[in-house]
Amino acid sequence: MDEKIIIAIDGPAASGKGTVARKLAKIFNLPHLDSGQLYRHIAYQAIKSEINLNNKSALLELTNKIAFDISEIEDLRNDEISTVASIISQYSEIREQLIEYQRDFASNGAVVDGRDIGTIIFPNADYKFYITASLDQRTERRYLQLKKDSAEIDRNNIKNDINNRDLRDINRKIAPLKKAEDAIEIDTTEMKIDDVIDFIVKYIHKG
Ligand code: CDP
Repeated sequence: MDEKIIIAIDGPAASGKGTVARKLAKIFNLPHLDSGQLYRHIAYQAIKSEINLNNKSALLELTNKIAFDISEIEDLRNDEISTVASIISQYSEIREQLIEYQRDFASNGAVVDGRDIGTIIFPNADYKFYITASLDQRTERRYLQLKKDSAEIDRNNIKNDINNRDLRDINRKIAPLKKAEDAIEIDTTEMKIDDVIDFIVKYIHKG
């Protein structure tokens, strides 16, 4: 596909949206932006610099200083970074500072995944999907993902982390996690990743 299309993919934690977005980007030859990595990057730097999470101005200064070349960033998917990312992502000023980066990134088309992509960042995206799955299924997916790097992980901790993050993301005042009205919701609890991809590709080809 040569068009500069924008595909927005939102959904709760560990729903598989990142994997879906990555595969779609390959299929449609578009760049992929995992917007969660932006928040995780700030979280990682805040932890490293021991910034108090109530210190909004220090966090904003940090956000200003970070150049968002996220291709350079390793995967920051651990419990502590996830939780801190979801805490700092409640600050509207931090979210605002990330808007331009995301829109610039997609200026020639992109697949972008996150929480507010179809609602706030790209309300006019060509295609919007909202990817969900049951909490148990999402826990299992994150468990399998994290188990590759560490033997000492606990399903209950993962479940609590995911659930707490979802609650924080859904209930925050600014850019909460929610399905855009015009997004197609896909419950992937019983679906394999390739089935999800098939469904979306067919949907997009139908126009
Ligand atoms: O991969 P997973 O779904 O677990 O998380 P993520 O997409 O990397 O996002 C980490 C955290 O960043 C989320 O829990 C949100 O609090 C925040 N986030 C956000 O507020 N807005 C986005 N567009 C993306 C992530």
